[in-house]
Amino acid sequence: MTVSTDRPINVAIVGMGNCASSLVQGIHYYGGAAQTDAAGLLHEEIGGYRPSDIRIAAAFDIDQRKVGKDVAEAIFAKPNCTTVFHDSIPQTGVTVKMGRILDGHSDHMKDYADERTFMPLNAPEPNKDDIVRELRTAGVDILMNYLPVGSQKATEFYADCALEAGVAFVNNIPVFIASNPVWAERFEKAGLPIIGDDIKAQLGATIVHRVLTDLFAKRGVAMDRTYQLNTGGNTDFLNMKNQDRLASKKASKTEAVQSVAARRIADENIHVGPSDYIAWQNDNKVCFLRMEGRLFGDVPMNLEMRLSVEDSPNSAGVAIDTIRCAKLALDRGHAGMVEGPSAFFCKHPPVQHTDDEARLMTETFISGAPLRAVPDEDTAGIQGTEPQGKDRDDGKTAPVRAVAG
Ligand SMILES: NC(=O)c1ccc[n+]([C@@H]2O[C@H](COP(=O)([O-])OP(=O)(O)OC[C@H]3O[C@@H](n4cnc5c(N)ncnc54)[C@H](O)[C@@H]3O)[C@@H](O)[C@H]2O)c1
Repeated sequence: MTVSTDRPINVAIVGMGNCASSLVQGIHYYGGAAQTDAAGLLHEEIGGYRPSDIRIAAAFDIDQRKVGKDVAEAIFAKPNCTTVFHDSIPQTGVTVKMGRILDGHSDHMKDYADERTFMPLNAPEPNKDDIVRELRTAGVDILMNYLPVGSQKATEFYADCALEAGVAFVNNIPVFIASNPVWAERFEKAGLPIIGDDIKAQLGATIVHRVLTDLFAKRGVAMDRTYQLNTGGNTDFLNMKNQDRLASKKASKTEAVQSVAARRIADENIHVGPSDYIAWQNDNKVCFLRMEGRLFGDVPMNLEMRLSVEDSPNSAGVAIDTIRCAKLALDRGHAGMVEGPSAFFCKHPPVQHTDDEARLMTETFISGAPLRAVPDEDTAGIQGTEPQGKDRDDGKTAPVRAVAG
């Protein structure tokens, strides 16, 4: 992109949808001369990298309204419907290339109006060599995966391309790659960092539900039942009308809440997931949350909350940090999953931590400070910590064992 920087971070985007649109707008919004403060950013600077250091060096999509267009135009093409908070995006000179469709496109999407749905281009699809060549030629550092939910094969295809091209991978979607030990090991062996899975929005349903669940645990309130119902009108929600594509999304969102509960909630007492597609909401996502618990003396209480957010800028506010953490990991020769940023920025990381713990680990990672083991007595006051060595497959969060030395 036309952003001048001494230390560019070259990013390839797969899936030029609403999240990519908000990310590209944000790079320019925070890089613009008029921008005097950093309101809305988690970090103005990460290891010396600023949002304006991010360049979109390559982009892939399958929609006929996006392929062949400059990135600056493709991000505003239908069916994208997110808020435009920065419309002056200069031509980038980077053209969106045709991607490999695989399971990126679901049949049920054909039943909706053109302006609401995906319209795959009828053109030859690239093979792995083509994508790898493109990534290498463009000097890409990091590949951002923004495919639709349920794109298992397509995600694996692009992850393979990243491995082959020697590119770091950030997996924003609920297909398990960073949290799949086989894939994590492949990245480790290739000497490449991976952050994932399933991006956790800046202030969205997941983080609010997790923080409230953690609060119940900290205040000794037994949580008996909870639901989180979400509605929206973007293509992400339309795609998720196909229940067959939803299994990993539900698992990711549910586990994000279960992992911070004092005790695991029985499956029938927790319901977390996308609940309906309401076209006129466009990229506005509304979350209805209910939590039922018992206070002192087993006396019942309940909490109801409604959250309304623009979905895609909410994820871009986090993506702008995951990219910079992935670049920092690359600079430092970090191989394999990056634990702190994955736990802080994603719903389904390889290892779950409470958000306080994950934030501490992320700040430590960013600072580059050496890590040291925390003596048992130091962790005693940290909610969610358990005796060290506790099996992380038990659904509980892992203890924070490393802080800045
Ligand atoms: N918005 C959030 O807060 C948030 C949070 C967590 C996860 N996510 C996930 O991020 C992903 C992207 O979200 P979005 O709102 O941008 O979705 P979107 O529907 O707006 O965009 C998806 C894009 O992928 C393209 N595509 C489909 N198949 C492809 C293929 N095989 N190769 C290349 N491109 C292909 C589509 O044409 C479209 O442009 C979704 O899986 C979503 O669930 C979003």
